[in-house]
Amino acid sequence: ARDIRLAVVAGDGIGTEVVEQGLLALDTALHGSGVTVSTTDFDLGARRYHATGETLTDTDLAAIRAHDAILLGAIGDPSVPSGVLERGLLLKLRFALDHYVNLRPSRLYPGVTSPLGNPGEIDFVVVREGTEGPYVGNGGAIRVGTPHEVANEVSVNTAFGVERVVRDAFARAAARPRKKLTLVHKHNVLVHAGHLWRRTVEAVNAEFPDVTVDYLHVDAATIFLVTNPARFDVIVTDNLFGDILTDLAAAITGGIGLAASANINPDRTAPSMFEPVHGSAPDIAGQGKADPTATVLSVALLLEHLGLPEAAARVEKAVADDIAERGTDRVRSTAEVGKDLAARIAG
Ligand code: IPM
Ligand code: MN
Repeated sequence: ARDIRLAVVAGDGIGTEVVEQGLLALDTALHGSGVTVSTTDFDLGARRYHATGETLTDTDLAAIRAHDAILLGAIGDPSVPSGVLERGLLLKLRFALDHYVNLRPSRLYPGVTSPLGNPGEIDFVVVREGTEGPYVGNGGAIRVGTPHEVANEVSVNTAFGVERVVRDAFARAAARPRKKLTLVHKHNVLVHAGHLWRRTVEAVNAEFPDVTVDYLHVDAATIFLVTNPARFDVIVTDNLFGDILTDLAAAITGGIGLAASANINPDRTAPSMFEPVHGSAPDIAGQGKADPTATVLSVALLLEHLGLPEAAARVEKAVADDIAERGTDRVRSTAEVGKDLAARIAG
């Protein structure tokens, strides 16, 4: 029998509420399969920060490393200065555990009302680089608060870092029916990083000759995401562009209540982390209003990553069927949605 050691970081706001339903879906999907799950709860986020001043200690990190995967709810709270938990906890996890592939699938499930008049068929995946770009925290400011302030944020792009994520994106494109990869950047302005990305895509394309490649500047990509999202299959892009595009991608496919993500370490030198794209939503926290579907879909990505594709497919089908039958407009509580999904997963 196999036991999955799962680190659970429920985090802040609605994080705890959606994670509870994600765990229910996970248990239900594995019921009777011979695979069990042992969870360890990590007290990380705003509560811990206020109590101890800590965000993520070396001890926490070492303990998390000893797991097969991480399920994360949401991080961030208005009572903590902006950036403290984001940088000190969430991004620290992604960087320390080398989550260089931030995988964010976008599907328009039948039954979802898209804000687009004529969305067509939407089924693409964004491979967002997860360990470099403007997110690394290089930079600094001088003369802060004066009229002469200078604030620099430096985007770091290494040949090593770009190549490994581009190769992963090609492999994903090659495994999909349409075999199409779109590089999104802004190489007409960000010439140093942009050309490194462009050259890398060109070079790695030689290893994947059956993948068709095209390129869009990020501003043009936002137009096509709204006017013709069906044109996209796999998008590969840098950390910040990927952050922005995946919120837009979520918006056109029914909102962030449905958007799942996986922070993957493809080399498996550390556990990968699965989390909804949405944040802690303090405005609705504690009211049982949050849609746990994004977390449940993240659980499907987790199962897939752990080599349990049948369980993953069952979870995804439960979500698709639930949406097809009930839509997303009817108001159900967090627990109701979780219960409905679990019933479908159980079959
Ligand atoms: C996301 C979030 C994070 C990011 C924030 C909370 C640091 O917006 O997961 O998309 O920018 O990556
Ligand atoms: Mn984001």
